Amino acid sequence: MSIAPPQPSDSVFADVLPREHPMIHALDDAYRELEVAMRPHGCTRCHAPDLVLGNRRTRIRHAMQVLDLRRSIEAMVEANLMPPPTAGHPAGIADDAARARLLRRATAFRTLGDVALASW
Ligand code: HEC
Repeated sequence: MSIAPPQPSDSVFADVLPREHPMIHALDDAYRELEVAMRPHGCTRCHAPDLVLGNRRTRIRHAMQVLDLRRSIEAMVEANLMPPPTAGHPAGIADDAARARLLRRATAFRTLGDVALASW
C-alpha cells in the first residue's frame, strides 16, 4: 500500500483559502492579471523588500501582500497617486487608458478578494 504524498497546492492563495473554495481559481486568475498590469508601472519593482526609499516600504511583491493591500492598491490607482511624483513627473499614470485598464483589474481583484474571504 502506498500513501500519496500531499499534493502541492495549485493556488497562490492556498494559505488563506481551502483548495476547494469555489472562487480560488477565479482569484488566482484575477491576481495574475493584476500583477501583469502592474509591471509596466514599476509597482512591484518599487514595492520590493530590497528597495527602501523611505522609512518604510509597503511590499506588494507577493500574492498575499497584494491580497492584503487590495483596497489600498485600488484606491491609489483610482486617485492616480502611484507611482509617486519625481522631479520631472507628477504622481500617477499619465496614460488614461493604461490607468483605466489597471484600475479595472485592481477593482476586479479587490471585489473577488472581498467576496472570497467573506464567504469562507
Ligand atoms: C518609485 C517607487 C514607487 C513606485 C514605482 C510605486 N510606488 Fe507605491 N509607494 C511608494 C512609496 C515611497 C510609498 C509610501 C511609503 C509606503 O507606503 O511604502 C508608496 C505607497 C503605496 C501604497 C500605500 C500603501 C499603504 O500603506 O496603504 C500603495 C497601495 C501603493 N504605493 C501602490 C502602488 C502601485 C499600485 C503602484 C504602481 C501603479 C506603485 N505603488 C508604484 C513608491 C512607489
